Amino acid sequence: MSYLEIKNLHTHFSQRTGSVFSPAKHIVRAVNGVSLSLEKGEILGLVGESGCGKSTFSRTIMQLIPATSGSVVLDGEDLSALSHAEVRKRRLDFQMVFQDPYASLNPRMTIFSTLAEAVRQRHPKLKGDALFHRVETLMATVGLDAKVMRKYPHEFSGGQRQRIAIARALAPEPKLIIADEPVSALDVSIQSQILNLITSLQKDLGLTMIFISHDLGVVHYIADRIAVMYQGKIVESGPAGKVFHEPQADYTKRLLASIPRLAANC
Ligand SMILES: Nc1ncnc2c1ncn2[C@@H]1O[C@H](COP(=O)(O)OP(=O)(O)O)[C@@H](O)[C@H]1O
Ligand SMILES: [Mg+2]
Repeated sequence: MSYLEIKNLHTHFSQRTGSVFSPAKHIVRAVNGVSLSLEKGEILGLVGESGCGKSTFSRTIMQLIPATSGSVVLDGEDLSALSHAEVRKRRLDFQMVFQDPYASLNPRMTIFSTLAEAVRQRHPKLKGDALFHRVETLMATVGLDAKVMRKYPHEFSGGQRQRIAIARALAPEPKLIIADEPVSALDVSIQSQILNLITSLQKDLGLTMIFISHDLGVVHYIADRIAVMYQGKIVESGPAGKVFHEPQADYTKRLLASIPRLAANC
């Protein structure tokens, strides 16, 4: 069995349509029968256009939204079978990195407080020098100078804030990180710095990650394997190079053709 095994996962939303006088219900099948597996230390790139169900899928894996049906097994444990209280305890095992680090960081907390709080979720007794050193190490891991730890999020650039968000995700030593469009809001040059950081973290820490993007080029750069999502289903998956260079599904071919090529005429 793989480290993460997702079997036939469905997440449906029921939406009210029609009028007050003739109410009707419409079912949105945001995740519509997804099966995927991921090995420890691997990065799975999940790619698909906006609205295809990527965020709903990630929130369902993290048990933030209840699955309509199907199962999620992480490290041999069936998360879909856990009670609410047990899910809360496991929450530290999954961490997320979002598209907008500014919105996901508390503006009133210094970087030290943010990271210290995240470390103490896993090690509640850690304090003083030991806590300080742990925060210092985390900052070095994501390429930030420890000197800036007393600053607030607004004092950093977008790229630096995303480094802080990554450090915060690493702090509780999670089993799985899901990064949902983590570079989509960044300038291209900063994007590649963050992608390089994630690649080196994977090498050094053996990170297991689902990296979500609408951009197949970005996903190809970072992922070991790629899964292509379309209308709530996985239409193609396989080793990153194979999906990128020899796409089988028409939808993947279209995604590939839509990647902007700056040097098309060169
Ligand atoms: N809470 C919700 N209630 C109803 N529909 C939703 C909800 N969340 C997402 N959806 C719908 O599910 C589909 C997938 O959305 P989402 O998972 O955000 O896609 P993506 O992350 O790929 O852009 C969309 O049609 C969206 O409108
Ligand atoms: Mg999304």
